[in-house]
Amino acid sequence: MSMPPAAPRLAILPYRKPTEGRDYWVLDNALANAEAVRARCLAKTDWIEGYPHKPESWPGLRAIPALEPDELASIEAWVRKVTETKKLWAEAVPDGAHSNHNCVQVVGEGECQSRPHTDSRKICRYAAVLYLNPAVPDDCGTSFYRQRLPNGQLGGNMVSPPHNNLVEALGARFVPPNSFVEDLRIDHRFNRLLVYRANLIHSATAYWGHELAEKRMAAVFFWMA
Ligand SMILES: [Fe+2]
Repeated sequence: MSMPPAAPRLAILPYRKPTEGRDYWVLDNALANAEAVRARCLAKTDWIEGYPHKPESWPGLRAIPALEPDELASIEAWVRKVTETKKLWAEAVPDGAHSNHNCVQVVGEGECQSRPHTDSRKICRYAAVLYLNPAVPDDCGTSFYRQRLPNGQLGGNMVSPPHNNLVEALGARFVPPNSFVEDLRIDHRFNRLLVYRANLIHSATAYWGHELAEKRMAAVFFWMA
């Protein structure tokens, strides 16, 4: 009789408690003209469709750019200041891949679950999300996660060199459900910018809404430093 396949043995990552001012930064009232940015994004006609509209791994609708250069410049000035980074830049992505820097994403309830991941160290050190729908509930913000081992013990939450992403760091592409547990939740607030170290395990906490104007709308940013 054959044995059932063993569960993949995942590496245990280092843990560092996500701490404001060190690992993440929050700016409320981030844009002076957030209502206008939202209206401009809602009026877009060049959306790229992800799941469930198209057989893509990513959910909802995306369009680029979210912010105009002057709007982006003011956000980046604040990010450089709080992260004490002299230079931030959007890294070119390999041929054929889409950069999602300064992209607006609209994702409804049921189009995606929370999906803990890290953003590739090849393209960013810092990532950010700017919430752009005033009607979305608080618990549709962004969460940080850490590992939960099969015995219930808690593991780590970060990808370090030489690994670039969570798949490399864990040594497995497929992980059992419940391998991660929520560690810290940042509430959704209209016109709030959340910047975080992109190697920390994170995800949208939840999505919201059924019509375009009801859905969770967020601009996302990825910076190398
Ligand atoms: Fe991410």
